[in-house]
Amino acid sequence: MNEVIQKNLQYKKYVIDSNLEYFKPHSTKIEKTFAEDVSYSLNRDSKFISPKYFYDKKGSELFEQICNLPEYYPTRTEIQILKKIQPELEGYLDESFRLVELGSGSSVKTRLILDVFDKIQDRIEYFPIDISEILTESSELLQKDYDDLHITGIVDTYEGGLEFIEKYDDKKNLIIFLGSSYGNFNPNDGKIFLKKINSVMKKDDLFLIGLDLVKNKETLENAYDDSQGITAKFNLNVLSRINDELDADFDLDNFQHVAKYNEKDQRIEMYLKSLANQSIIISKANLSLKMTQGELIHTEHSHKYTLAQIEEVMNQTDFKIKEIWLDETENYSLSLVSKK
Ligand code: TRP
Repeated sequence: MNEVIQKNLQYKKYVIDSNLEYFKPHSTKIEKTFAEDVSYSLNRDSKFISPKYFYDKKGSELFEQICNLPEYYPTRTEIQILKKIQPELEGYLDESFRLVELGSGSSVKTRLILDVFDKIQDRIEYFPIDISEILTESSELLQKDYDDLHITGIVDTYEGGLEFIEKYDDKKNLIIFLGSSYGNFNPNDGKIFLKKINSVMKKDDLFLIGLDLVKNKETLENAYDDSQGITAKFNLNVLSRINDELDADFDLDNFQHVAKYNEKDQRIEMYLKSLANQSIIISKANLSLKMTQGELIHTEHSHKYTLAQIEEVMNQTDFKIKEIWLDETENYSLSLVSKK
């Protein structure tokens, strides 16, 4: 592997071949370790586990399965809208755009957008930003299907990757953030994140964001608590991960997956509920934990929006809406925006 140091950017460049390269931060930022995070987040009255720990190998596989569940409508609905809007999206792009994705898509969704680029460009540039090493695998898969695709992966946080893009060059960017991942931010942090995106965008850059919409409680709760129990496995898997990586003794049979829609805060709340009074030892976090029957560990929020709220949030974060596309059932939205 050829390694080049890009001094000005503080990133190391790894060239795999003429169509595939990666940038990784040269000096890794000091991030809290898993053990430190867990010892903080479980050693308190209102317990939580950061959702970023869902996505180990097993968790990522389970999440793929969630996306294919009959009850989990967001993925297939977003795909349906993307297919419908391909011709319109083409109208917004020209040969000077590149595709920047927050998260790395091996998925059909990235391909649907790359297909639009493929129609109007001889050489496509795709910059996925993902902290996970999954980025390498998914990039290699994509490369097999597009001869004229040039991939530059950025192995960093979204914020880091966005700053990288801003400094990189003057090419126009279509930034995409799909899967309703924005809903996993609380509204305040979400707005800070949107402002960050806005601040790195150039005048002609575009941003496409997928957001799940407010709907009836039953549909929502079923989407996050499916009949096959895959979402439950996904949620519980974070405890297995703590068992494996931090030398803990969570008994998964003593916990239950809970997904409740909070109508006031417009969000699905995910928890792991303790089914007994129990003690857990997490050796590598130096923690001996006591949990009572019924006690909850919070793991994730998934916020849902109304169209009026999407317009308001975009306005507050200095975006101008070009289009909001919905599916026929009005379950899900894709918004295309630019800087005000
Ligand atoms: N971004 C997805 C969402 O909020 C993530 C997700 C789907 C998820 N199902 C989940 C997160 C179950 C935790 C548990 O829709």
